[in-house]
Amino acid sequence: MGFPINRMRRLRSRRNIRDMIRETSLSVNDFVYPLFVIYGKDKKIPVKSMPGVFQFSVDNLKDEILEIKSLGIPAVLLFGIPEHKDNMGSSGYKDDGVVQNAVKFIKDTCPELIVITDVCLCEYTDHGHCGVIEKDGTVNNDATLELLAQEALSHIKAGCDMVAPSDMMDGRIGYIRKALDENNYSHVPIMSYAAKYCSSFYGPFREAAESAPQFGDRKTYQMDPANIREAMREVALDIEEGADIVMVKPALAYLDVIKAVRENFNYPTAAYNVSGEYAMVKAAAACGWLDEKRVMLEILTAIKRAGADLIISYFAKDFARG
Ligand code: PBG
Repeated sequence: MGFPINRMRRLRSRRNIRDMIRETSLSVNDFVYPLFVIYGKDKKIPVKSMPGVFQFSVDNLKDEILEIKSLGIPAVLLFGIPEHKDNMGSSGYKDDGVVQNAVKFIKDTCPELIVITDVCLCEYTDHGHCGVIEKDGTVNNDATLELLAQEALSHIKAGCDMVAPSDMMDGRIGYIRKALDENNYSHVPIMSYAAKYCSSFYGPFREAAESAPQFGDRKTYQMDPANIREAMREVALDIEEGADIVMVKPALAYLDVIKAVRENFNYPTAAYNVSGEYAMVKAAAACGWLDEKRVMLEILTAIKRAGADLIISYFAKDFARG
């Protein structure tokens, strides 16, 4: 039945009616805020390509944590920038590493804030890759698994609530799950970066986390942006291996993947609104070319509409401020 029986504009005519029939709404409860923790003391270093984002030393985290809490954001995702990097990423899995210390500090300061830790080697290796590198420059998948498990265990020993492996090695969710279970951490959930693409939208993050690969690229472990069927296999495998939450990353250019994951698996689905997505909006807004707040809300709403239950975003604080 078409016009004139149906007039779509009837329900758009007034704000109250539009509000009543809105299909998607965002809540501060949907958000996870990423935090970069750096070695040393009294540091709050701005990340140039991400206005509003800083690298904090642990002793300087307090105000940030209290602000996040007062804004009602339920969770943070931690990344560490260590003082020393080596070819095995050993600063990533020592008990007094930057992330481990930050976890302890945050849980002491604000026990109700959910602390999720990113589990990966790229921030801790001198070559900047997410795994152990062989002499010929290839990534040794299976040797990497043990190091990731050590890292996850050290984060949990420090008191984090959830671990989020982001390395894209095969079998890491199962390996980490087994290690946690064997160490009496069967209650700690895993959020897997399940469909993580080899994306150029991570550029600003690599400045923030000082984790750019020193040679080559991440194409042998992260996914080809052209593929979605492969994403379904990645997610299915991570679920089979014990993932509790599955993530799609990036978000904006991968809304179809978010939707497919949401529809094909009955698992909580997270989407990572990554650094480049944030930087583009901030840069255009700084030039006066976009209305920052409206564009932010449109993007975040679209990510939720596509099917994300959780949104990891550098916009979390801006959103919560309203
Ligand atoms: C670590 C990791 C990356 C991001 C999250 N975890 C970078 C990468 O894989 O190169 C990117 C996050 C962002 O761009 O905001 N492997």
